[in-house]
Amino acid sequence: ARITLRQLLDHAAERAYGVPAFNINNMEQGLAIMEAARACDAPVILQVSRGARTYANDIMLAKMMEALEAMYPDIPICIHQDHGNNVATCLTAIKHGFTSVMMDGSLKEDAKTPADYAYNVAITAEVSRLAHTVGASVEGELGCLGSLETGYGEAEDGHGFEGALDRSQLLTDPDEAARFVAETGVDALAVAIGTSHGAYKFTRKPTGEVLAMDVIEKIHDRLPDTHIVMHGSSSVPQEWRDVFNAHGGEMRETYGVPVEEIVRGIRFGVRKVNIDTDLRLAAAAAIRRVADTSRSEFDPRKFLTPAMDAMSAVCTARFEAFGTAGHA
Ligand code: G3H
Ligand code: 13P
Ligand code: NA
Ligand code: ZN
Repeated sequence: ARITLRQLLDHAAERAYGVPAFNINNMEQGLAIMEAARACDAPVILQVSRGARTYANDIMLAKMMEALEAMYPDIPICIHQDHGNNVATCLTAIKHGFTSVMMDGSLKEDAKTPADYAYNVAITAEVSRLAHTVGASVEGELGCLGSLETGYGEAEDGHGFEGALDRSQLLTDPDEAARFVAETGVDALAVAIGTSHGAYKFTRKPTGEVLAMDVIEKIHDRLPDTHIVMHGSSSVPQEWRDVFNAHGGEMRETYGVPVEEIVRGIRFGVRKVNIDTDLRLAAAAAIRRVADTSRSEFDPRKFLTPAMDAMSAVCTARFEAFGTAGHA
C-alpha cells in the first residue's frame, strides 16, 4: 500500500528506527529493493531523481510503482521525488502518484551557486502549501552538501562550486534549521553534515573532523517533530569495490559513510537515509563479474539476475542495520 513520508517517518520516530530511501530508475532496482523488503518485512521509500524520470519516463515509472504495489501488497511504499528543483517538478511528481516530494531549494535552479536563505524559504514554503493541500509530504534541504576534507560544496551536477567554503558555510546551522522549518512547514529536513553524493566522499575512514554527527543531535534537540534526512549516505562497501576492480573496473580508494555512523545518526533522530551509489556499485560489480567470467554470455538476464541479487543483499543489510526490518 502507498503511504506518505510523514506517515512512515512518524512511525519510524515512535519506534526509533531509520528508513533507507533507495533511488530507483528501472525494473531491476525495483524488484531487488522489494524482494529485500519482503524478506525483511520492512517498509520502503523508493525515490526517483529528475534524471530517473528522464531515463525511464514518468508513465513507465508510475505504472511500475503500481505493479510493485500489486506484487508486494503487504509492504508500505512511499514514492518520493528526490531533489526536486522547482515547483513544476514537484507537482508533476504528485500528479503521477508520488506521495512525497523533496524541494531542494538549497540550490538555485541553475545550480551554479548555493541558494540564499530567502529563496530557499520562499520556494519550499510554496511547495509545502501545495503538496499538503493534496496530502503529499515534503522534504526540504538547508545547508550545502559537500566535503569538509576539501571545502568544496556540491552543485547539482555533482561538481564543486568555485572556491572553497569553510565549515560553517557547509554545515547546517541548528538555529537556522529551526527557523527554516517554522517558515516552510516541511515534514522532513535534509541536513548537511559533511557527506556528499557519489562514490568519492572521503579519502580515509571519516572521523568527527569530517563527518559532523554532532550537528544532527543539536538539530534534533531543537526540532523533535521534524524528521531528519541524511543525503549522500552510501557506505561504498569495500567488498563490492574489490569485486568491481577484480573484473576490470577502476574505482580508486575511497570511503563512504560507515554504517555504524548512520546507526548513531538514527539514535540522534535521523529517519530517512538516502542511498543510490551502493546499489549502483553492487549491480555494476556483479555485471562486471559475469562479463569477465562468462565471456560467451549474451543473455541480459544472466547479467541482471546477479545484479538484482547483489542489490538485494545491500538492501537487506541496511534494513537490518537501521532497524527497519520487522516494521512493514
Ligand atoms: O542525488 C543524486 C542521486 O544519486 C540521483 O542521481 O541524478 O544521477 O539520478 P541521478
Ligand atoms: P549516495 O550517492 O551516497 O548514494 O547518495 C544518494 C542521495 O543522497 C540521493 O539523494
Ligand atoms: Na544543499
Ligand atoms: Zn541527495
